[in-house]
Amino acid sequence: ALRSTFARKAQSSEQRPQYALQPQASFKVAVLGAAGGIGQPLALLIKMSPLVSALHLYDVMNVKGVAADLSHCNTPSQVLDFTGPEELASALKGVNIVVIPAGVPRKPGMTRDDLFNINANIVKTLVEAVADNCPDAFIHIISNPVNSTVPIAAEVLKQKGVYDPKKLFGVTTLDVVRANTFVAQKKNLKLIDVDVPVVGGHAGITILPLLSKTMPSVSFTDEEVGDLTVRIQNAGTEVVEAKAGAGSATLSMAYAAARFVESSLRALDGDGDVYECVFVESNLTELPFFASRVKLGRNGVESLISSDLQGLTEYEQKALEALKPELKASIEKGVAFAQKQA
Ligand code: NAI
Repeated sequence: ALRSTFARKAQSSEQRPQYALQPQASFKVAVLGAAGGIGQPLALLIKMSPLVSALHLYDVMNVKGVAADLSHCNTPSQVLDFTGPEELASALKGVNIVVIPAGVPRKPGMTRDDLFNINANIVKTLVEAVADNCPDAFIHIISNPVNSTVPIAAEVLKQKGVYDPKKLFGVTTLDVVRANTFVAQKKNLKLIDVDVPVVGGHAGITILPLLSKTMPSVSFTDEEVGDLTVRIQNAGTEVVEAKAGAGSATLSMAYAAARFVESSLRALDGDGDVYECVFVESNLTELPFFASRVKLGRNGVESLISSDLQGLTEYEQKALEALKPELKASIEKGVAFAQKQA
């Protein structure tokens, strides 16, 4: 999607020099945690979208400069900055999509679950404000552990009486982006063609790439399946270790989050052909939340794509059963946290 944004601009700039200042659609997007490692490059990528008319950047600090800087890009959207809880309501008013990368990232040796105590409270507070100010918005949760923060968000929205399961998303796009990249490298395929569905959750073994469902169809040896699966599951840790204390994935995450924002914008704009893997309320398994491919439409999730889970290989079937207890526990931990706070 981002590639096509670039391509469209390059083509149209000669014929229509005014194009860049006129949005094609007028959606408003808010980023909460916009001054952070993910927030800044994500805001830049969203600023490039011709479907966005207003970009609201919220953080507890350092967001004024980010907004001033971005506002000089000659792309359509107007950039506004909002600092601290007293400006949070204004940041959310009238917004169509809220993206939440607020919170602390991992350091070497930490699991995503180690972030729970800090990020659970941050997500709870921010989603309460979403419920009060833009209850109809699509909510994209990036803050980890996604396997727990999405159930927390759902509980908060239920408590406020505005929960719409079709509009609450845990962003797992980075797992798909990584799977596509690693498979293309390993099998010498053209990157742009490769699409691997990734299901389950977003931590360790709960991340389950369905390599047998790779498009275009490609065969793997058992050893390749084992290596690729483990690499995709541990790719976040690869970055955490390489950054050696300076945080976790930010640039690839921003790219992935921008792809999911762009897909959501296209769906909101009426495009009838938008599919993404994402962590949502689900009845595809016995777990209440599960990442799978979904069809997106104007009202959020239109349908869950169940066919990916049919005809799994023995390896995938075992991995699916193995991830369920951990994912279930993470979901229940999130629900229990939100109910205790209520
Ligand atoms: P960061 O520390 O660079 O940025 C976080 C930002 O959140 C900071 O600017 C901070 O001021 C802000 N913040 C903290 N409390 C806030 C509050 N109450 N309201 C608004 N903003 C607040 O962290 P980074 O690297 O951007 O990561 C953010 C989150 O994203 C982490 O939880 C990380 O684990 C998660 N993540 C998720 C991925 C995914 O695939 N879903 C991938 C990579 C990271």
